[in-house]
Amino acid sequence: MASRALSPTSAPLDRELARHEAVIERAVETFGLPLHVVFKDKVERSANGYREVLRRLYPNSSILFAVKSNPCRGAVRTAARLGLGADAASEHELRAALEEGIPAERIVANGNAKTSQYVEAIVSSGALSSVDNADELEELSRAATSRHVRTPILIRFRGMPLSGFTADDQTTAAAWTKFGFSIDEAGEVFARVAGAPGLRFVGISAHVGTQIADPVAYELLTVHMVALARRAVASGLALSAIDLGGGYPVSFVTEAEWAGFQAQLLDRLRAPVRPGASVTWTDLPMGYGGAEPEADSPTWVGKAYWSAHPASAMLERALAFGHPDGKSTVQHLADLGSPTLIVEPGRSLMATSGVTLAEVRGTKSVLGNLVVSLDLGITNHGTNLITNDIFPVAILPRKADDVPVDAFLAGRLCFSGDMISKVKVRLNRAPRVGERAVVYLTGAYSADHFASNSCGFPLPAKVAVDGAGRLDVWRRPQRFEDVFGPVGEA
Ligand SMILES: Cc1ncc(COP(=O)(O)O)c(C=O)c1O
Repeated sequence: MASRALSPTSAPLDRELARHEAVIERAVETFGLPLHVVFKDKVERSANGYREVLRRLYPNSSILFAVKSNPCRGAVRTAARLGLGADAASEHELRAALEEGIPAERIVANGNAKTSQYVEAIVSSGALSSVDNADELEELSRAATSRHVRTPILIRFRGMPLSGFTADDQTTAAAWTKFGFSIDEAGEVFARVAGAPGLRFVGISAHVGTQIADPVAYELLTVHMVALARRAVASGLALSAIDLGGGYPVSFVTEAEWAGFQAQLLDRLRAPVRPGASVTWTDLPMGYGGAEPEADSPTWVGKAYWSAHPASAMLERALAFGHPDGKSTVQHLADLGSPTLIVEPGRSLMATSGVTLAEVRGTKSVLGNLVVSLDLGITNHGTNLITNDIFPVAILPRKADDVPVDAFLAGRLCFSGDMISKVKVRLNRAPRVGERAVVYLTGAYSADHFASNSCGFPLPAKVAVDGAGRLDVWRRPQRFEDVFGPVGEA
């Protein structure tokens, strides 16, 4: 990355690390490394950002914490204390949200393959189901009818022109996705809902994908959602909610670092001969994959790691956006009778609130590139399994005479793809074995998304620190026996 200055994206987390140094050191002594740490004050600040935008622009709204971004009781309890609802992705997340006191009417149950247990839990709790497909509609109708209730539903849609705004595998409202009904089926689905017993139509939902850095995606989304809402009303349905999903982005790097990285990668793809000058592992083209590097100005397609409109600023853009007819999204919502606006942020609530600490276990040179190996597997920094993400990293403590170096970061699984960073990141210095590394902005998805016992590793601890320095254990570290069982047990 281009800038040698302390990155502003990691500086706020450095301040939290310094402020809570003593309690974090005690946690390291107790639980060992690697260790995931979440700062609750920062979660609250992110939630307040959404609250403030909605209070100002569209008060009839509900902010749901996307539990999948940090699925554990501590995170759900924190969300409940902050007055947030929950976006649940399973019967388990739904149960945790209910047990932590989040009211059913502030829970949306998502999922493309809901089990009978999940459907039963949705119907019996009164949570809103974001209905994915016709089979689910039927099952919900049957389950609700047999309980003599009408279960509240949103219809989830895909098929909008929303591809290319993030990684393909994280794109969830375009044509190629397993989620939701196609917008082409809207008329048929609305008619079916109107005639089905046991269902109470509440509204419509969609989720563009995650880390949506370009406001154009939300502009297109709102145009399509307003059109779908009008169609629902024209079909005779009473619409009282519109769910725009999550996806609000985080700036993992600064604007200058992002531009510098893109320029360096392009140079490298155009002249990949100089040893040691790789910018990405195996010279991955990342967002330039579909472009001809020789083109005068190839455009980056896919996931971006910086946004001019992070988190709630993106929601503000979406609400203030002027539609082709000149009316803003807010005005269109008013025309629709001011339905409740639901938003489901996950990454943007949690990512900037967390760090992961790990020990350096060695360094080497691969084709002239410095590789630093950490005692951390990609299973515990798992978003990299879907895309080659960029996270700032530093060696602690920072020292006045640090000389920055660029390095790839390797994990410790027996799997060549186990790279903690396939993007060469700027470290404040070349580390020695036993020094501590911090990976910043890991509060969302990193610790849990693909956590597993690969290579026999127990899962590490996840702790949270509040403003007063009190420590909560969000996940106890697994022990050897949790993975292998006790001696003598088959
Ligand atoms: C339906 C739904 N809502 C919200 C989210 C949260 O997205 P993000 O963490 O990008 O805000 C997801 C994530 O996959 C999702 O599937």
